Amino acid sequence: MKGLILSGGHGTRLRPLTHTGPKQLIPIANKPVLFYAIEDLKEAGVTDIGLILGTNMPEKVKEAVGDGSRFGVNITYIMQGEPKGLAHAVAVAHDFVGDESFIMYLGDNILKSGINEFVEGFQDSNYEARILLQPVENPRQFGVAELDDDGHVINLVEKPKVPKSDLALVGIYLFKPTIFKAIDEIEPSWRGELEITDAIQELLNKNLKVDSHIVRGWWKDTGKPEDVLDANHLILDVLESENNGEVEDGANIKGRVSIGKGTVIKGNSVIRGPVTIGDNCYIDAYIGPYTSIGDNSRIIGGEIESSIVVGDAIIECNERIVDSLIGNHSNIVSKENSLPRGHRFIIGENSLVNL
Ligand code: TTP
Repeated sequence: MKGLILSGGHGTRLRPLTHTGPKQLIPIANKPVLFYAIEDLKEAGVTDIGLILGTNMPEKVKEAVGDGSRFGVNITYIMQGEPKGLAHAVAVAHDFVGDESFIMYLGDNILKSGINEFVEGFQDSNYEARILLQPVENPRQFGVAELDDDGHVINLVEKPKVPKSDLALVGIYLFKPTIFKAIDEIEPSWRGELEITDAIQELLNKNLKVDSHIVRGWWKDTGKPEDVLDANHLILDVLESENNGEVEDGANIKGRVSIGKGTVIKGNSVIRGPVTIGDNCYIDAYIGPYTSIGDNSRIIGGEIESSIVVGDAIIECNERIVDSLIGNHSNIVSKENSLPRGHRFIIGENSLVNL
């Protein structure tokens, strides 16, 4: 079986973070979200992986993932270019997949329990596709499946006005090569994209069998800032403590905290896990639960909690920062007594500042 990870798309909902790179490289607990997908595939025994690239700085994905050897997998890069839909991304991978079964994994999705159970038995089954589902409270915002009593899929609808069930499609799918013909036969949707739900519906229209599996544990699509913070929360819930840095006497550290190489935690600091701090950071502050601080960040004074600092940031102020997503090379500093008084911002398109 082959693997296909989608790492294209515009990532508009995650601007301005996606102005400097694709959203699949946004770190969750200091690791790019895309790496979790690669690790899940490897864990399920899928090591021949095609990585779909879009137009938003694809070279950054190549630089981060390389040939895949550090994950124990073999990566083939496939250029999709403009995001013309999930089914379009699959179609451009036809030569790579050949006539094998394959698993398609959206590169911004993250699952607690991996995919081993989901993958099991599919290759030798008489199903043409298997979809992963999760009950949700707001099915109108998702692709929704209607199942028969045996869990076979009867019908799929993208963002239905009147949902037939509360079972939303999770961004991980299993296909046989019959999906390529189904994709050839569909037309772009109202939003101009070739939808994978339409291609699966096309399989159903031809009376081909589609199976389903309900997710065990949590699943997160990290398409929006609040989802990125939620995913960070969920991953930090299972963080293990590790100290490769230097913790000065007097620093007060409680709970599960991971500290990277070359990082210094000054004596006045208070850290309440779960917290992960990357390499070469300088911390002289309060770092509260569910916070990830990326490499080369300096946090001096103030408090930060339930937040992600991507890295290379300087935060030097006496403010309390919560539920925040702070991009690479950001500076948040307070210049007391400087005139004229007032907050000074140099922020990009789609930034959010809550004072
Ligand atoms: P989406 O989150 O639906 O799309 P997007 O990345 O363009 O985001 P936004 O709506 O904020 O602009 O995409 C789901 C995943 O699939 C994501 O990892 C990007 C990837 N993708 C592709 O690789 N190619 C595509 O053509 C599309 C639409 C998405």
